[in-house]
Amino acid sequence: MDNPSVNKPLNLGIAGLGTVGIGVLRLLQNNEKTITNRAGRPIRIYAISAKNRQKNRNMDLSNLKWHENPLNLAKDPNVDVVIELIGGAHGTAYELVCSAIENKKAIVTANKALIALHGNELAKKAASQNVPLLFEAAVAGGIPIIKTIKEALAADRLIQIGGILNGTCNYILTTMTKTGRDFNDILKETQKLGYAEANPSTDIDGLDTAHKLSILASLGFGYTFNFDDIYVEGIRNINPYDIHYAQELGYTIKLIGIAQHHQNNKLELRVHPALLPNTSPLSRVNGVINAITTQGEFSGYLMLEGAGAGEGPTATAVCADIIDIARGNTIPMWGTDWNELRPTNLIPNTDFNKAYYIRLFVEDKPGVVADIATVFKDYNLSLRSLLQHKNHIIHNAENTVPIVLVTHKNKENSLLKALKEIHKLPAILEKPIVIRIEEP
Ligand code: HSE
Repeated sequence: MDNPSVNKPLNLGIAGLGTVGIGVLRLLQNNEKTITNRAGRPIRIYAISAKNRQKNRNMDLSNLKWHENPLNLAKDPNVDVVIELIGGAHGTAYELVCSAIENKKAIVTANKALIALHGNELAKKAASQNVPLLFEAAVAGGIPIIKTIKEALAADRLIQIGGILNGTCNYILTTMTKTGRDFNDILKETQKLGYAEANPSTDIDGLDTAHKLSILASLGFGYTFNFDDIYVEGIRNINPYDIHYAQELGYTIKLIGIAQHHQNNKLELRVHPALLPNTSPLSRVNGVINAITTQGEFSGYLMLEGAGAGEGPTATAVCADIIDIARGNTIPMWGTDWNELRPTNLIPNTDFNKAYYIRLFVEDKPGVVADIATVFKDYNLSLRSLLQHKNHIIHNAENTVPIVLVTHKNKENSLLKALKEIHKLPAILEKPIVIRIEEP
């Protein structure tokens, strides 16, 4: 790294000219003077690299050095900072970042999968070469949550971090709630609008949220853990009936990611759809918007809400990191020395202790509710409420009815065992639907 006190330009090498890459070029160009003032020196795009050189990007790139192979950006002696906007946990993005570290270049990346899966190893490598590796854009695009945790909340011990971390899922669930339309129907619309990732499974099956949550947990709590142990459940099985019943009970269904620090130094990391009370701030975060909440011992409750993706917001986050590097204002990747992070095990879902929404579809005859209640009693599970609508919307079949149960907080292990028993009762016509309730 060069000395930031010298007023010489900081030269960038940008790998990847998709939405975010072009956004960074545009932002640096449009706000050149402001950025120079705030960075204390000019920021210059020196070299670029992307898959397709011929693609029309509505931008004059002729005076920028073009590298056919992005890995050459890391070896280019005139590049000070490598901006990795390729994406993907492995392959070129990973090689580029490793090579940049070896060549003592600062790195800015927007790559959540890379940081979630290789963050600890990269933190160690970056520290050994004394180069900064910044990743504000990797979590929730334009929401400055990395800086908030690393800097603004640096003095506090956090107890919980979480929120709505995927715009695609939030758009789908919001639209289902507003229109009563079906999941698949709205997914197709979301893909046409360009919100969903190239592979929609990354969004709707919860992996994208898990990547972001994993980063927030390491940063906020100072632990390393096995990424695959994060409990992840997506939104494919959410249907309009459950959204409707949840509303009737005063809840909204959202996909949430929650990281909770327990007193025994264990972490609970979970991604799943949840019923949020309509009085909670997260329940009112709609459309593609993301929101992140933190709960700290001294700082209390905080919520940041904004665009989790998109050209302008994500480019703003990338440029904030670039300005920090220009100023020499860099902090270790996880906010602390890499070897201060402690390994821990994640709590398995069977040990979660939550309230649950359960929907059963049953034959409408005497004794059914009593049979269900008996199983709950046998497993020492406590019920909070029961809702039954005669001839409701789910099926038109004669003498059948949906029953919605809400439990008090119970150990998930007992709940799952009880539901297995209930499913076997002759009057139960479908596999029970179960959704966790997220409330204080
Ligand atoms: N596809 C993500 C979302 C944005 O829908 O929020 C990038 O993480």
